[in-house]
Amino acid sequence: MKNRIAPPLFALLAALALPAQADRLAVPANALYQEECASCHMAYPPQMLDTNSWRALMNGLPKHFGSDASIDEKRRIAISDFLDRNAGSRKTGVTADANGQPLLAISQTAYFQRKHRKVEPAVWQRASIKSPANCTACHAQATAGDYNERSIRIPK
Ligand code: HEC
Ligand code: HEC
Repeated sequence: MKNRIAPPLFALLAALALPAQADRLAVPANALYQEECASCHMAYPPQMLDTNSWRALMNGLPKHFGSDASIDEKRRIAISDFLDRNAGSRKTGVTADANGQPLLAISQTAYFQRKHRKVEPAVWQRASIKSPANCTACHAQATAGDYNERSIRIPK
């Protein structure tokens, strides 16, 4: 009995252990998301906003941070489903403001602000950075989901 159960159990445990070792902020493969949501900025990690935030964002694409990012309804629903499936994490928690309204910007979440509290306000304004939303300016490997300290280069 023991021998018959052990191998599948081992395989299951190994499979469960893998995602924890991989970079937890890597964007899961999705061609549509890359096509529609990575032309104006990088494809942000779905893990950094909760489902309420992503739904609110995906319901407001015609007025998206001062841009019109609207797309056809089929694509919008498919991307929204993808974001729902991959949203949030234990670390980012609930991504709402003090009134419980879903935040649309990763850079406004408590998790982001805690992680970036040592970055001086003036640094965000530098011409080489422009905005906290410009993750790749400082996180050279951001598109691979790597935000580790050793990969950070803050441009002058
Ligand atoms: C037409 C250009 C454009 C397209 C297409 C676009 N965005 Fe954006 N997005 C922007 C701009 C501009 C900002 C504001 C960036 C800034 O604050 O510097 C932004 C900001 C964001 C932010 C907040 C970043 C932060 O933390 O401050 C998220 C999240 C986001 N976009 C998700 C998406 C998703 C999901 C899609 C695809 C459905 C998408 N965007 C498509 C232009 C676009
Ligand atoms: C001005 C440069 C800069 C920009 C732009 C920036 N970051 Fe960071 N980021 C940092 C610094 C500095 C740290 C803190 C490193 C430390 O003290 O460990 C950090 C830390 C992080 C961490 C924590 C890493 C860890 O292992 O604890 C995450 C996650 C992160 N950033 C994501 C983002 C995302 C997502 C964006 C864009 C929406 C972004 N950052 C934009 C500089 C930046």
